[in-house]
Amino acid sequence: MGKMQGKVVLITGGAMGMGQSHAHVFASEGAQVVLTDINEAKGRETAAAVKQSSGSALFLRHDVTSASDWRAVVAECVTRFGKVDVLVNNAGVSAHGHFSSHAEQVLRKIMEVNFFAATELTRLALPTLQRGQDPLIVNIGSILGHRGLPHNSEYSASKFALRGWSESIRSELAASGIGVLLVSPGTVDTEFFDHLLTRTDSIPWGKQQGISPEVVARQIVRAMQLRKTEIYPNWRGRLLVVANRWMPKLVERLLSFYK
Ligand SMILES: NC(=O)c1ccc[n+]([C@@H]2O[C@H](COP(=O)([O-])OP(=O)(O)OC[C@H]3O[C@@H](n4cnc5c(N)ncnc54)[C@H](OP(=O)(O)O)[C@@H]3O)[C@@H](O)[C@H]2O)c1
Repeated sequence: MGKMQGKVVLITGGAMGMGQSHAHVFASEGAQVVLTDINEAKGRETAAAVKQSSGSALFLRHDVTSASDWRAVVAECVTRFGKVDVLVNNAGVSAHGHFSSHAEQVLRKIMEVNFFAATELTRLALPTLQRGQDPLIVNIGSILGHRGLPHNSEYSASKFALRGWSESIRSELAASGIGVLLVSPGTVDTEFFDHLLTRTDSIPWGKQQGISPEVVARQIVRAMQLRKTEIYPNWRGRLLVVANRWMPKLVERLLSFYK
């Protein structure tokens, strides 16, 4: 029997990248996956591939910045399955470049997709999650939610916000039995960096070698079983967080070379 047998899992940004891997891995563990994405063609393709290879999947078109879409997606899950056990707030976007060279809209868009979409979809889904089995909110954060990096100010801000909110609601929801898992990956091999909202300069440290999105999905399954509240899928990312905690001035000096 799969480790997620009988669970209904709602994943945002499920057409590509990490969301796509979450869908495959969770379905292979017996979950009924509901994947949503703004990209309808790719989303349908992914759902069909999941059904063919690993199990049950349903695609719903969903722009995470649209309030009417949040309501429609949650209502559809209730109608079809009567519950949502796991909500994975995964959709995300970024931009590369100096804060001073970016327009206000870049920051607003990143906060909308990476932060407000997660908070408001969760708010709407809470009564439904409450009826779930071992309900869990999985927020896909980033190492940049633990240490801000130059050329990534808007993205870092959005992931710090997501982390702070995750910690707060984890305590608030403890009595209700709804868990909150924060996932903080470093670089993952997806097309994320081809989807940047804007790129006004290249990242001075170049593209880092990433881990496979499937590794992240498998770590999430394991974290669910062990009831962990936080995971750091890449050791390099974890190292940066530890170094920043114990040697913040050194990390600051090193990062200031990448001005
Ligand atoms: N890749 C990394 O190195 C990395 C590292 C740490 C954390 N993360 C986080 O991991 C999550 C997934 O990233 P990824 O690497 O899988 O990126 P990805 O390959 O770009 O996939 C993100 C998916 O989200 C969709 N999406 C974007 N805006 C949306 C919206 N408004 N409504 C609905 N769907 C939307 C995208 O659709 P379109 O392609 O059509 O826009 C895409 O299918 C993000 O939260 C990201 O911040 C990524």
